[in-house]
Amino acid sequence: MTELTLKPLFNFDEMTLPPRVGNGFTGKDILSVDQFDREKLKYIFARAHEMRELVQRVGSCELLRGNVVTCLFYEPSTRTSSSFIAATDRLGGRVIPITQGVQFSSVSKGETLADTIRTVEQYSDVIVLRHPEVGSAQVAADYSDIPVINAGDGAGEHPTQALLDLFTIREEMGRIDGLKIAMVGDLRYGRTVHSLTRLLTQYDVSLRFVSPEILRLPLNIMNTVIDAGLDVRETHDVADVIENADVLYVTRVQKERFVDLAQYEEVKNHYVITPELMQRAKEKMVVMHPLPRVGEIHYTLDDDPRAAYFRQVKNGMFIRMALLAAVLGKA
Ligand code: NCD
Repeated sequence: MTELTLKPLFNFDEMTLPPRVGNGFTGKDILSVDQFDREKLKYIFARAHEMRELVQRVGSCELLRGNVVTCLFYEPSTRTSSSFIAATDRLGGRVIPITQGVQFSSVSKGETLADTIRTVEQYSDVIVLRHPEVGSAQVAADYSDIPVINAGDGAGEHPTQALLDLFTIREEMGRIDGLKIAMVGDLRYGRTVHSLTRLLTQYDVSLRFVSPEILRLPLNIMNTVIDAGLDVRETHDVADVIENADVLYVTRVQKERFVDLAQYEEVKNHYVITPELMQRAKEKMVVMHPLPRVGEIHYTLDDDPRAAYFRQVKNGMFIRMALLAAVLGKA
């Protein structure tokens, strides 16, 4: 007969984790860009710089050792999900990836968002959520005792994308105040546009919104811009903005948000940024895109030094490293 021994498996006194520190973000949800004032933005950007240096010099660290991040994605994603996974990896944490389509999770059996959230919070320290409904991140946060990071709630917000967009503008142009920023494409349903525009109201910038009539920026966001006193104009034509823009922020028409697909067909190929068009743009300016692109930016533009969209992708990892460290009280 085998003997069952109860000698302790672990010597907890010999194990240490980095201490948890209060930093204004510790334990908090990240649901909207409205949570960020300029001081907080400065903090996150400074941390993102450190993260870039860490990755360049040594690749990774152990800051999040012992932490588990659940990535729960109810909508397709390439960059947002993989950058959160890479960010966690590089900080020495672990990920539960429910990102291959929730068809493989119990959501396909009819489980509610609330129950899924209350389940994954038992295993993890942070939940990164993408969901098709506006307000879903807030709902998840209401049910969760651990921080929820909004990775896109329908046509609502995409705060972590806006942070990386703003960080990219600063990195590429050296400043934000004083710039002329043009947003092009689906301003109605594009959540990245909504979040970035709201963030930019904290700066002294000129905004130009370029879209087909049916894809204009929602009125409530336009009112926020006007109330902030920014110089703002709307147009249907990229030609009106190309010569003066310091930043051209191009977006995909969000097919999945259209109720009437015939309407999508009407506007889908409305704008294409080509090398010919770029000949009229300033020499020092940047073209950005949250990606995926489906024809809005011609591939022949990729070699143009002003094409910043893949550098923008990389910045996303640094920003998400900074955010994870911040909410977990490690920075
Ligand atoms: C965006 C999104 O999901 O809102 N993608 C991203 O996260 N980089 C933009 C888009 O899908 O068009």
